Order: sequence, then structure tokens, then C-alpha cells
Amino acid sequence: MNALGRTSALGILISITILVSVNTTVSVQMGTKVLLCCKPTPLTKAILIIWVIKPRGPPPCTIFYRVETKISEMKCRDMRITWASTFDQSPDLQINTVALSHDGHYSCDIASSEGHFHKRLNLQVLVPPEVTLFPGENRTAVCEAIAGKPAAQIFWAPAGYHVTKNELHSNGSVTVRSTYYWENNNVPVVFCFVSHPTGSKILSIEKNQSVTSPLHSLLTILYVKLSLLGIILLIIGFVFFQKRNYFRK
Ligand SMILES: *[C@@H]1O[C@H](CO)[C@@H](O)[C@H](O)[C@H]1NC(C)=O
Ligand SMILES: *[C@@H]1O[C@H](CO)[C@@H](O)[C@H](O)[C@H]1NC(C)=O
Ligand SMILES: *[C@@H]1O[C@H](CO)[C@@H](O)[C@H](O)[C@H]1NC(C)=O
Repeated sequence: MNALGRTSALGILISITILVSVNTTVSVQMGTKVLLCCKPTPLTKAILIIWVIKPRGPPPCTIFYRVETKISEMKCRDMRITWASTFDQSPDLQINTVALSHDGHYSCDIASSEGHFHKRLNLQVLVPPEVTLFPGENRTAVCEAIAGKPAAQIFWAPAGYHVTKNELHSNGSVTVRSTYYWENNNVPVVFCFVSHPTGSKILSIEKNQSVTSPLHSLLTILYVKLSLLGIILLIIGFVFFQKRNYFRK
């Protein structure tokens, strides 16, 4: 029965020359709902609908719908993907709560008496990064955009020397860490601007949060040395005074 359905669909594919092919990218934030649209118009003359899903993590899976027999084969239950409505209305799929594992390539094929329609859909799952700004070692400020997808971009104001590193995680998210060196900047406050498709953020940090300046350290050393010298002089003076008293006796 299934095999017959497949050959009849193939037979029509061969005899018809029209082939419509569409490529799109859909960006959606993790945790939201998404509709994966195949063809905008109702399919009155469709014979077979095939969705092939190749997510980044889980193995690929296929969803079939044979219009003639009204048989639907869906082997993607674990991925929480469902048909959006009844097939007479649309061949679209739906994901109620998008997870990072849904990120990947989707393709929809419709074989109909009017021709073969093919659509490739790239589903890009967006994850907002967790953003922090804190004082680092050696008079630096560190701005982090943790586990965002895609990688966030970090800018500093006022512009200054900084080093930015990206760390790619196995789930496809990226942590961006930028270290700003205050050394040559006489500014009291520095701003970190984190740009991301899910929304941008500006954080600021005051210079006084970083550790002691070299001048301060120098003064501390001088102060300690002078104090030591004073104590030594006092001891010598005391001993000398004691000895003088002793010899007087
Ligand atoms: C801070 O400076 C010291 C001495 O120059 C160096 O050994 C250390 O690695 C630096 N720390 C960082 C986090 O750059
Ligand atoms: C992705 O992996 C990173 C590092 O292991 C983790 O911090 C982050 O929470 C993960 N993101 C999701 C959405 O699972
Ligand atoms: C210095 O930084 C601290 C935060 O660590 C802040 O509470 C304080 O107001 C700052 N002081 C001055 C004088 O800017």
C-alpha cells in the first residue's frame, strides 16, 4: 500500500516539468512558538507531502502525508513537532516551545498534479546571552555575554585597547568575553555595549572599582619603609640613651 503510493507520486514527478524551489531562513527565540510554512496556498491537488528535518543535535527524521490514503507518518514525536492544521488547509508544521535542539535544516516537498514544490527552510534558534561587567585583574574591566546564540558583539566606550575571545559550546551557543585595559585612559567610567539579535544591553563600570594604582603602591612602600626606619632610629636612640645613663653611673 505504502510502496504503491510512493511510486504513483514518483510517476507524477517524472511526467511534470514545473519545479518550484524556495529557500528561506527563519529566526526564532528559544522558548517561543514557531510555524514552519511550506506553501502559502491550500493544496487541492497534492498527492504527497514530505518534510525532512535535519536538526543540529538529534538524528534526522521524516514526516510523510499521503493525501489519497490520508495516512500520516510522523517519527519526530520526541522533537515536539506537530502538524499546524488539517492537511486540506496547509502542509505546515508547528513547534510549540522551540528548544536549542530544534536548530537546523528543514525541507518540505509537495508532489501534486500541478508540479513539484520544494522548500528549504533554515531554522535559526536565538538564545539571549547572560550579560555581566565586572572589574578584572591588573586594572581591567571584563564584559561577558554568556551562552548566547548567535555570538553577541561587544563594543566599548570610550574606545580603548581591549581583547575579545569567543568560546563555542557544544550546544551551539557562544560565550564572548572582552577585557578592557584602562591603563592609558583617564576616564572615570567605561561602558560595555552588548549587541545581539534578541536585544542589546549597555552596562557601565567605575574606574575606582579596580585595584590600587601604581602611585598609591609606591607611596605605601615609601610609608612602610619610612616607618621601619623611624622605629629602628627610635631603638638605636633608646639603646644609646640607656648606655649613656649606664656609663654615667
Ligand atoms: C597580571 O599581571 C601579572 C604581572 O604582570 C601577570 O603575571 C598576570 O598574569 C596578570 N593577570 C592577568 C589576569 O592578566
Ligand atoms: C549551552 O551550553 C552552555 C555551556 O555548557 C550552557 O551554559 C548553556 O546553558 C547551554 N544552553 C542551553 C540553552 O542549553
Ligand atoms: C566606588 O565604587 C563603589 C562600588 O564598588 C561605589 O559604591 C562608590 O560610590 C564609588 N565611589 C566613588 C567616589 O565613585
